[in-house]
This record gives sequence, structure tokens and C-alpha cells, in this order.
Amino acid sequence: MADRLSRGSRSWIVLMLVMMAVAFVARIAFQLPLKPWLHPQAVIQPIPFNHSKHRAMACVMCHNGVDKRAHAGLPDMDICLNCHATPPPNVVWNTAVWEQAVKVRHIQWKKLTREPRSIYFSHREHATLGGIDCVMCHDGMPTSVKPPEKVRVIHMKDCLDCHTENNVSTDCARCHK
Ligand code: HEC
Ligand code: HEC
Ligand code: HEC
Ligand code: HEC
Ligand code: HEC
Repeated sequence: MADRLSRGSRSWIVLMLVMMAVAFVARIAFQLPLKPWLHPQAVIQPIPFNHSKHRAMACVMCHNGVDKRAHAGLPDMDICLNCHATPPPNVVWNTAVWEQAVKVRHIQWKKLTREPRSIYFSHREHATLGGIDCVMCHDGMPTSVKPPEKVRVIHMKDCLDCHTENNVSTDCARCHK
């Protein structure tokens, strides 16, 4: 009886070890965050992009909607390939992702700063017509060395404070659909 029980618990231990090994490999392979339950919103971008190393470039080269559309947009692979004929040094560990992106000419960046769908917000209006510097709303981004990992909402209070300061409309219907 005691023998059978301990054999049973031994196979449980083996099963647990196997599951831990699988989780460990999955974490490395898919770059899942360690302890995801502690980082409920951690978002990992497919390539560890470094803004600071690209500071010489104008933002509009990669976010090419800022001067003409509501959305700033995130860059596609063609833009990167202008300079990176081979994968940049620090993505070597992740070459498969880079090569796949080259093949399909697309990188699946995740959009992190976002407003609810019921809000009107336009980059053309603010960055181009209003001449507002990107860092007024995206603090720290130009000098960041790795992508942010959290979803960010710019709250109504921030919109209203700046509108009031600049004598821009604070009518509900301007911002709310
Ligand atoms: C105008 C040229 C240019 C374009 C376009 C460009 N890069 Fe770079 N990239 C560079 C330079 C220069 C470096 C710095 C190399 C160094 O310091 O070793 C670099 C470095 C990198 C690195 C390594 C960063 C690090 O921490 O060492 C990555 C990753 C990278 N680029 C990704 C991209 C991606 C993704 C795109 C497209 C969205 C892109 N680059 C577009 C010029 C460019
Ligand atoms: C070489 C291309 C490149 C240039 C130049 C560039 N960016 Fe980016 N930007 C990216 C990529 C790729 C991402 C997505 C990955 C990340 O977050 O790092 C991104 C993400 C962002 C985000 C976050 C978007 C989101 O979903 O929250 C902001 C804000 C941003 N960039 C602002 C800027 C500003 C401001 C400048 C100019 C100072 C700039 N970028 C220049 C490629 C670029
Ligand atoms: C007045 C505030 C403000 C300014 C100035 C601003 N942004 Fe944004 N940005 C936002 C908001 C709000 C969002 C989310 C928009 C949404 O979800 O509709 C956003 C989203 C983004 C994104 C995510 C992708 C997308 O298309 O939504 C990028 C990239 C970005 N901004 C880059 C820039 C750059 C580059 C500049 C400067 C040229 C800039 N922003 C200036 C407020 C601003
Ligand atoms: C300058 C733009 C702007 C104006 C003007 C504005 N809002 Fe908002 N409002 C927002 C944004 C952006 C959000 C979403 C972000 C957040 O939750 O803070 C929001 C969110 C809200 C929410 C929360 C909605 C939810 O789903 O939780 C309410 C309620 C609201 N607004 C009411 C109003 C009323 C009433 C007025 C007029 C007196 C008004 N707003 C004017 C930008 C604006
Ligand atoms: C840092 C200052 C600043 C912030 C933050 C800001 N705005 Fe604005 N907004 C402006 C300015 C300045 C204008 C007028 C631009 C122009 O000259 O056309 C404007 C114009 C607008 C307009 C057009 C209004 C009209 O009467 O035509 C809308 C809609 C708007 N903003 C929505 C938003 C929302 C939504 C947010 C928050 C997510 C926001 N803004 C955050 C400064 C700001």
C-alpha cells in the first residue's frame, strides 16, 4: 500500500518537473514574461527595438501618419531594410523572427498607446497643425532603449488640461463620438 502510494506521488513529481521544463522552454522560445500573473499587461514586442539608437532619424520616417492622418502608425519591414540588410547585432538570438518579417515584409508590432474607439484623436491635428512635440504626450520615448511593455491610455484629464491651457475647445462632442 505504502509502496503504491509513493509510486503514485513519484509520478506526480515527474509530471510536475516535465511541466516546469515545458514552461521554461516555452518562455525562452516565445519570450513569455516570467510570472505573467505579476505583470498582467506585459506586452513583448516581436523585436527589441531601441529608439535611442535611431535618434538621428525623424520620427515621421517610421511613424509616417503623424503629418497626414489620425494614426501615427508603426513601421513595416521595408523601412528597416533600407539600413539593415542583415539582422542588427542584438537580434541575432531572435533571427528567425527577423527573417520571417523580411519574408512577409511585415512586423506585427503591438500598439500600446490607445484610446477607446469612442474618442476622436488625430496626430495630424496635434503634431502637425498644433505643432506639439511628441514628448508632450509620449514622455521618454525618443531616448528609450527598449519597447514599453504596458498598455497606456492618455486620460481625459491630460487632454482637458492642455486644451484649457491653449484655449482649445473642451466641448464633450469634440472628443466623444
Ligand atoms: C536610417 C537607418 C536605419 C533604419 C531605417 C533602421 N535602423 Fe535600426 N539601426 C540603425 C543604426 C545606425 C543602428 C545602430 C547600430 C549600432 O549602434 O551598433 C541600428 C540598430 C538597430 C538595432 C540594434 C539595437 C541595439 O540595441 O543594439 C535594432 C534591433 C534595430 N536597429 C532595429 C531596427 C528596426 C526594427 C527598424 C525598422 C523599424 C530599423 N532598425 C530601422 C539604423 C537604422
Ligand atoms: C527606425 C524607426 C523608428 C523611428 C525613427 C522612431 N520610431 Fe517610434 N517606434 C518604432 C517601432 C518599431 C515601435 C514599436 C516598438 C517599440 O515600442 O519600441 C515604435 C513605437 C513608438 C511609440 C509607442 C507606440 C505605442 O503603441 O504606444 C511611440 C510613442 C513612438 N514610437 C514615438 C516615437 C518618437 C517620438 C520618435 C522620434 C523621436 C520615434 N518614435 C522614432 C520605430 C521608430
Ligand atoms: C497631444 C498628444 C499627442 C502628441 C503630441 C503625439 N501623440 Fe502619439 N498618441 C497619442 C494618443 C492619444 C495615442 C493613441 C491614439 C489612439 O488610440 O487613437 C497615440 C498613439 C501613438 C502611436 C501608436 C500608433 C498609432 O498610430 O496610434 C505612435 C507610434 C505615436 N503615437 C507616435 C507619435 C509621434 C511620433 C508623435 C510626434 C510626431 C506623437 N505621437 C505625438 C497622443 C499624442
Ligand atoms: C479634449 C478631449 C475630451 C473632452 C473635451 C471631453 N472628454 Fe471625456 N474623455 C476623453 C478621453 C480621451 C477619455 C478616455 C480616457 C479616459 O478614460 O480618461 C474620456 C472619457 C470619458 C468618460 C469615461 C468613459 C468611460 O467609458 O469610462 C466620461 C464619462 C467622459 N469622458 C465624459 C465627458 C464629458 C461629460 C465631457 C464634456 C463635459 C467630456 N468627457 C469631454 C476626452 C475628452
Ligand atoms: C499637450 C496639449 C494637448 C493635449 C495633451 C491634447 N490636445 Fe487636443 N489639441 C491641442 C491643440 C493645441 C489643438 C488645436 C490644434 C490646432 O491648432 O489645430 C487640439 C485640438 C484637438 C481637437 C480638435 C478640436 C477642434 O476644436 O477642432 C480634438 C478633437 C482634440 N484635440 C482631442 C484631444 C484628445 C482626445 C486628447 C487626449 C487624448 C487631446 N486632444 C490631448 C492640444 C492638446
